[in-house]
Amino acid sequence: MKTHILLLLIFAIFIQNGQTAKILASVYSPSLSHQLAFRPIWHELASRGHDITLITTDPEENAPYKQIDTSYSYKIMEELGLGSIVSQQNSSKTSSFNTYINGLHKVSDYQFGTPEVEFLINNEKEKFDLLMLEVIYPGHMAFVDRFKAPFIGLVSLDAPPVIHRAVGNPTNPILYPDTVMPFTSNLTFKQRVVSFLANIGFYVFSTYFFYPNEDANVAKHFEGYTIRPLNDIQHDMDMLFINVNPVFHKLRPLGPNTIQIGGGTHLKEAKPLPKELEEYLNGSKNGVVYFSLGTNVKSNLLTDDLKETIIKTLGELPYDILWKYDEDITGLPKNIKVSKWIPQQDLFRHPQVKLFITQCGLQSVEEAILMNVPIVGMPFFGDQHKNAQIVLEKEIGLVVDRTNVKKEEFKEKIIKVIEDPKFKNNMKMIAKLMTDVEMTGLEKAVWWTEYVIRHKGAKHFKSYGTTDPFYTYFMLDVVCFVLLVLFIVFYVNWRILNFFVWLVFGRKKADVKKKTN
Ligand SMILES: *[C@@H]1O[C@H](CO)[C@@H](O)[C@H](O)[C@H]1NC(C)=O
Ligand SMILES: *[C@@H]1O[C@H](CO)[C@@H](O)[C@H](O)[C@H]1NC(C)=O
Ligand SMILES: *[C@@H]1O[C@H](CO)[C@@H](O)[C@H](O)[C@H]1NC(C)=O
Repeated sequence: MKTHILLLLIFAIFIQNGQTAKILASVYSPSLSHQLAFRPIWHELASRGHDITLITTDPEENAPYKQIDTSYSYKIMEELGLGSIVSQQNSSKTSSFNTYINGLHKVSDYQFGTPEVEFLINNEKEKFDLLMLEVIYPGHMAFVDRFKAPFIGLVSLDAPPVIHRAVGNPTNPILYPDTVMPFTSNLTFKQRVVSFLANIGFYVFSTYFFYPNEDANVAKHFEGYTIRPLNDIQHDMDMLFINVNPVFHKLRPLGPNTIQIGGGTHLKEAKPLPKELEEYLNGSKNGVVYFSLGTNVKSNLLTDDLKETIIKTLGELPYDILWKYDEDITGLPKNIKVSKWIPQQDLFRHPQVKLFITQCGLQSVEEAILMNVPIVGMPFFGDQHKNAQIVLEKEIGLVVDRTNVKKEEFKEKIIKVIEDPKFKNNMKMIAKLMTDVEMTGLEKAVWWTEYVIRHKGAKHFKSYGTTDPFYTYFMLDVVCFVLLVLFIVFYVNWRILNFFVWLVFGRKKADVKKKTN
């Protein structure tokens, strides 16, 4: 018996050794939700014996892998006042945009310059079998040329068109508008024009400004190594993992190198609620409305007007309100309870939670769907407007415009979503579809990661056209040529016809003229 176990153990170690890899993972964005989207993947890979080094702005306590702490990135963003841009209190939008881009650039400079990252870059003996890099910001793709390893791109939402294009996916702006566009399907003419121009705008911006600007950071920190322009490196992506779920998100065709890992990948195991919170929920007479704007929209960024509207509206409701708010606040109506931290996923599992008022961050919306809590959306930025649009289309909630929402409208919508069973029923239906899958997002992510490790890349899955210039991709040259040929043919025919007409009628006329003369 004992030898059996020993043999099994040796066998297990043998198998693990056959597959384990040294992985460098990097999630650049100073945003908790971006970091959380991938955390279960690191845990699962680590438990399968892979050796992970993760560069992260939100290191986790007791993580089973090595972490390089870049949390100072938040400080940099804060010092540049980038919070106010998030809430768009700042009226000068272009200067905000510049500040934002500048801020991202500074963060990248700092991250490359932290001693541990510097050591990775400059230690010639350092080797990795696989790179897993968040690609929504291009800088860290420089590791691809430094370590000459296969490379999986990660995006915590849907990828921008530039990234879809880099792996060979179609990027038609009418059928698949950018993630930050607030419309999804059946675009009006005006929306089509906006989406088309935005697509070109983003492309030009990325290709000629954003990426080259970041090349400067790379040149500074990778001295002595030959690193190609980031615009070129991105085409080496072996696989792309996007946090998309085809039930929630709009369908779009994707190549076999693009894996959709969305649909609650970030969900944690259910835990009992803290006793005090459970008592509060149990004791509520008409049920509880949960209000949270997520981790990126800090409460102190709400305008005074909006704050007043929110408090007045919630105060008049016949429900108890649980508000996740990160500041101290006094003088609230009696039915509002404020808390700085709430275990959201576990809260949603409690039957007394009737409604979720949310900024429509992807992960929050997914949690609400999977636990059947209908939504009133109040989107702020990024993909939130699009998610809110989907909430409306799927009829799993209603949406208010935070820039001019009035108390009556807000209140009406809250009550409607709670009282009309349609919203909850639709949510149940969508949750069923989302969870009836052959493999969960996490299982797919892990399986495909090990696939890339086994085959040292997956370039064979890349479709054509990723480096075609714009005019060949959209067939502009061909269309122009065909139009020109058609024009010439018609023109020549028309001239010939004219000539015959002249032969027959023109000469007769001339004859008539002659005769009368
Ligand atoms: C708006 O942004 C500009 C440029 O970053 C900054 O100087 C200004 O203080 C901001 N204004 C407000 C009200 O936040
Ligand atoms: C878009 O238009 C099609 C065809 O007219 C229709 O079936 C579909 O429901 C529309 N989708 C939305 C989201 O309005
Ligand atoms: C809350 O109610 C549930 C169901 O009635 C019960 O099982 C649970 O013990 C209650 N919890 C508390 C803290 O009262």
